[in-house]
Amino acid sequence: MPIDNSNMLKVIEDFPHQCRTALELAKGMTVSGKINNIIVAGMGGSAVGGDLLRLYLHDLKMPVTTIRDYKLPNYVNENTLVFAVSYSGNTEETLAAYEDALRKKAKIIAVTSGGKLGDISKKTIKIPKGLQPRAALGYLFFPVLGVLVNSGIVKENPSEISEMLDILSQKEDFRQFGEKLAKKIGQKTPLIYASEQFGAVVYRWKTQFNENSKASAFSHVFSEMNHNEIVSYQSMSRDKFLAIIIRDNFDDERIKKRMDITKEIISQKVNVEEVYTKGTYLLSRLFSGLHYADFASYYLAVQNNIDPTPVHVIENLKKKLAE
Ligand code: F6R
Repeated sequence: MPIDNSNMLKVIEDFPHQCRTALELAKGMTVSGKINNIIVAGMGGSAVGGDLLRLYLHDLKMPVTTIRDYKLPNYVNENTLVFAVSYSGNTEETLAAYEDALRKKAKIIAVTSGGKLGDISKKTIKIPKGLQPRAALGYLFFPVLGVLVNSGIVKENPSEISEMLDILSQKEDFRQFGEKLAKKIGQKTPLIYASEQFGAVVYRWKTQFNENSKASAFSHVFSEMNHNEIVSYQSMSRDKFLAIIIRDNFDDERIKKRMDITKEIISQKVNVEEVYTKGTYLLSRLFSGLHYADFASYYLAVQNNIDPTPVHVIENLKKKLAE
């Protein structure tokens, strides 16, 4: 009996193609006027793009914030650019955040495949339907970046995009890594770490294990974990947990040292796997860092006879809320 009934593997393998298509979706869409800050309002899979944007644009001279809530902060005004991102277009928190952005007179662009958000939004980037939101990250991230490029807020760097696409196309490397890691995880709970600069990447690992593998997983970042979570290893055991450290050649030297020492300490209690991001540009490093998790979470699901695609509990909860 095949377990991957909706062919999640193909969706994951097609990710570079999705990113390529997504790069075209913001064509001609711009914003004008003064912009002091940028907000991405969304939930779950639709919020990840906002987190990545914040990391990717860390050098930008204005704050980029992801809001996972019904309300936007009080500093939002006509000089705020708000992206309301909801794959389905029916997520109540995002719809409420959209209304709040309207009330606060922000400049608003919706990114959605349709739904209520598609109906009410005056300025929309329409993305293709038919995927799980978390599997549509390319569609959810690149159009937002595209608007910022079109509007002169961010400089386009074609070499960066082409390096990222080349790296993501090395499917077999990511697939094999994911398959091997899933075997190592087995019935253990993965604890995933990276530097603060890759915080959105480790959080994505966690949520991919949660939603694709229906497994518990936790993430934290360096160096904060050195100040709290590291202590909990005292009562951990090798048969229950597996630590995964996502490393980046450009990690700060002090962070590298912390990771080495931490590995030495926690190896006494649990096995530790390390994986390096690929590429020289930050965009490639972020996207390669998270693409490993697509495959690892997929294989962990299949290995446990779980269909990676459906997330019935999320849908049922949304139905109950709508009653
Ligand atoms: C499902 C998924 C969820 C949704 C979330 C919000 O694949 O990843 O986390 O993204 O429930 O729904 P949308 O994205 O439709 O606004």
